[in-house]
Amino acid sequence: MKTWMAIALGWAMAACAHAASPERVVTLGGSVTEIVYRLGQEKKLVGDDLSSLYPEAATKLPRVGYYRAVPVEGVLALKPDLVLASEQAGPPEALKRLGEVGVRVVTLSDQPSVESLMDRIHGVAEALDAQAEGERLAASVAQDLERAEALPATRARAVLLVNRTGTPQGAGAGTAANEVLRLAGLENALAGQQGYKPVSAEAMGALAPDIIVITQTSLQATGGMEALLRLPGIASTPAAARRRVVVMDDLLILGMGPRLPQALTELKQEAARAMAR
Ligand code: HEM
Repeated sequence: MKTWMAIALGWAMAACAHAASPERVVTLGGSVTEIVYRLGQEKKLVGDDLSSLYPEAATKLPRVGYYRAVPVEGVLALKPDLVLASEQAGPPEALKRLGEVGVRVVTLSDQPSVESLMDRIHGVAEALDAQAEGERLAASVAQDLERAEALPATRARAVLLVNRTGTPQGAGAGTAANEVLRLAGLENALAGQQGYKPVSAEAMGALAPDIIVITQTSLQATGGMEALLRLPGIASTPAAARRRVVVMDDLLILGMGPRLPQALTELKQEAARAMAR
């Protein structure tokens, strides 16, 4: 009798968990989307945002726009029962509005730190009722990070450029880019500035970076490698003189997601290769 009761209770609990388990999830933020895939929970996804560039399957889902400019109607049209939002997603009124109309919105830590990445993994896993998968993923990322950090680092001064607006902007303190450079053992020549700012030709000349790191789409937006190397300010840097430019995938290097170990490994290897030129 007791056994049946236990079984029934087990079923009831399983049913409850199932009812509470989200089935129509929209993600806002590329690394949040990536985590959903790494947890093997992608069947629950009904949409994501334009920064969700990896894995490729994520780019085939209905897109609701860019996570930093969330269109409320676009999200609601997908009838989500859960929105998983990076804390960088916004504007805040848009997320508030989603909550007001009854959508469950879970905001995930998205600060430039490994702790925040771990929080994000656990937060996504919990919201999707996949805690065990979350534990496994966090442990595997932690282990891979140790390996990546143990790789030899190259001593060099770097600037990291992002270009989404037509003007290349340099990454300063408080950005994921700054943290990734630091973890890769590179010195951020722009650590004295806060956040992203356009770098004037004079400032770039004075910073004299040994290496320029730029994201793939930023290089395209700048007109390609030769156009970058000809930019006023950049042309006179030691980096340009020796063509020491490291091009990295946008989400890989700026997302600080579960592929952070891969980002660090690639950046360390590419920086070493560049400095050997
Ligand atoms: C986490 C890595 C990031 C990825 C994968 C990413 C991806 C994207 C994509 C795909 C777009 C085009 C959106 C569209 O077609 O409308 C975009 C736009 C933009 N991104 Fe990002 N982004 C990232 C980080 C950043 C960062 C760090 C900045 C700050 C410098 C930034 C600033 C912008 C701006 C200003 C735009 C264009 C304006 C807009 O549409 O709001 N992004 N980004």
